[in-house]
Amino acid sequence: MNRFHFIIIGSVLTLFSSMVGLVLLPIRGLGNFEAAPDPETGELVPPPLSALEARGRDVYVSMGCMYCHSQQVHPPSVRTDIDRMWGERRTVPRDYMQQGVAQMGTMRTGPDLSNIGVRNPSQDWHLIHLYDPQTTSPGSIMPPYRFLFRTQPIGESGPSPDALRLVDEFAPPKGYEVVPTDDALALVAYLQSLKLSTYEVPEAARARYESKRQ
Ligand code: HEC
Repeated sequence: MNRFHFIIIGSVLTLFSSMVGLVLLPIRGLGNFEAAPDPETGELVPPPLSALEARGRDVYVSMGCMYCHSQQVHPPSVRTDIDRMWGERRTVPRDYMQQGVAQMGTMRTGPDLSNIGVRNPSQDWHLIHLYDPQTTSPGSIMPPYRFLFRTQPIGESGPSPDALRLVDEFAPPKGYEVVPTDDALALVAYLQSLKLSTYEVPEAARARYESKRQ
């Protein structure tokens, strides 16, 4: 009988301590997690992903981009991310609250993408780079994602407005054009939306992050 009580009390204590350690303390540490409307525009900060951007995020996940790219700007006390112009400030947990599953990544074979939408907002550049990174970044070890594009004969009414402007060496055979699929367009919309270090951090939350390591 004694042993029975022991097991019950032990189980309750185990559950209680995991609740505190895994749920309550992290909630307290992360602070207020509600998107606040911008006083001037009335739009939510951080903004929710549009349907197209959310689809792009899913393509990003399925293509395994996070195996080579991180989305987290470290504070200057830890790394030189800010000097590398990967973001104006460190990223904080609330920056990710509209991202669904945050793609923070672990490896940095390629540059950090937290703020690629600020650093390079050009849709044309991203499409051409995804089609073949060698076109924009000769010597890049990033794989080409040509299967996100279609090579098709140029129609009678002339080239499609979406056709990529590829330089000679990468251009399709004469009479053909390369156009992005919906997945490629969604992926680029997602990349353009990545501006994680640009959102205003509310005063109360800022104090919390600043009191820790910068
Ligand atoms: C094998 C590693 C690898 C994978 C996988 C990879 N990349 Fe890259 N990526 C790189 C490297 C290296 C660079 C730097 C050279 C360059 O610009 O191509 C780069 C550059 C970039 C840049 C330009 C960044 C800048 O600061 O100019 C973007 C955007 C990008 N990658 C997006 C993606 C997306 C989206 C995916 C998934 C579809 C992806 N990458 C998959 C390695 C990778």
